[in-house]
Amino acid sequence: MATKAIKTIGVLTSGGDAPGMNAAIRAVVRRGLSSGLNVKGIYKGYNGLLNEEIVDMTARDVSDTIERGGTVLYTARCAEFRTPEGQQRGAEVCRKHGIEGLVVIGGDGSFAGAQKLANLGINTIGIPGTIDLDIACTEYTIGFDTAVNTAMEAIDKVRDTSTSHERCSIIEVMGRNAGYIALWCGIANGAEDVLLPERYDYDEQKIINNIIENRKKGKKHHIIINAEGIGHSEAMAKRIEAATGIETRATILGHMQRGGSPTCKDRVYASIMGAKAVDLLVAGKSKRVVGYKHGDFVDFDIDEALAMQKDVPDYQVEVCASLSHNYSK
Ligand code: ADP
Ligand code: F6P
Repeated sequence: MATKAIKTIGVLTSGGDAPGMNAAIRAVVRRGLSSGLNVKGIYKGYNGLLNEEIVDMTARDVSDTIERGGTVLYTARCAEFRTPEGQQRGAEVCRKHGIEGLVVIGGDGSFAGAQKLANLGINTIGIPGTIDLDIACTEYTIGFDTAVNTAMEAIDKVRDTSTSHERCSIIEVMGRNAGYIALWCGIANGAEDVLLPERYDYDEQKIINNIIENRKKGKKHHIIINAEGIGHSEAMAKRIEAATGIETRATILGHMQRGGSPTCKDRVYASIMGAKAVDLLVAGKSKRVVGYKHGDFVDFDIDEALAMQKDVPDYQVEVCASLSHNYSK
């Protein structure tokens, strides 16, 4: 059976923002328009959908946005959309505005929303947007590259002052359930200890012993990268200082990691993913997630994508530990 060609698509960003989301929005808008579609921007994620904060997008509306962090469509979390009634109303709003295809840029939660809309007859395509890199079906998520570079530069700066004062520094990076930013910074910044939510055994004495041993070897600083999912960096600093006698400070990098101008990689990959999402809708596809695997931009069924599991790679965790001063011979 031939699929009915769609005429109008919508695009929204949902969940935590991520640098590069604007590049994806721009690509959806311009690829959509050049494919002969009407494109509507939906503000503030599913909240804006339910409140009908919907505008027609022109190519000019996304001028001067590719280099900007955040999302020009704003983003939100929407409790009502988690309910069947909210989802039903979301589908009705789409139909009322003639939106036959919807591109959802966000994380797994946002994809779960897209999955529900697809089951209610709205063609949906997800694009992975999160600094956490914690979406199982893809090796790339929009914003991770920028965020991890921002964190790396900040940690370098903390390290300078930490060395000058011969201190121990605990630097907390984002990642509620995922340690990718912590792991990458652990390798990139040469941290002495890296605490990942997926692996941490809460053996603080081991860290204390490392610090004492390293100090005996003449090490001037000790950098501990702690993922937000473990948290409690201030309390940990106090305990470590008390146990080692070495001045210990906690620095929580926080939301600065989620802002800033996207890197070239985030701009380019997000642009390609945005274009691919439109191409999938034009080809009559629905309930798909765009991903990046083995050097290629691919797409998966949302049900399958949401059922996949992801874990930080053991080999990378082992390499990170083996390159730190604690374990080198
Ligand atoms: P992310 O998309 O980054 O994982 P959240 O988990 O906060 O972020 O989800 C963003 C929004 O997606 C939620 O506020 C909610 O509106 C919607 N959402 C999340 N989970 C579901 C679900 N199971 N069903 C329907 N909508 C959901
Ligand atoms: O977008 C992912 C993320 O930055 C997580 O690393 C963090 O736990 C969460 O969002 C924080 O979200 P917010 O403070 O905006 O609620």
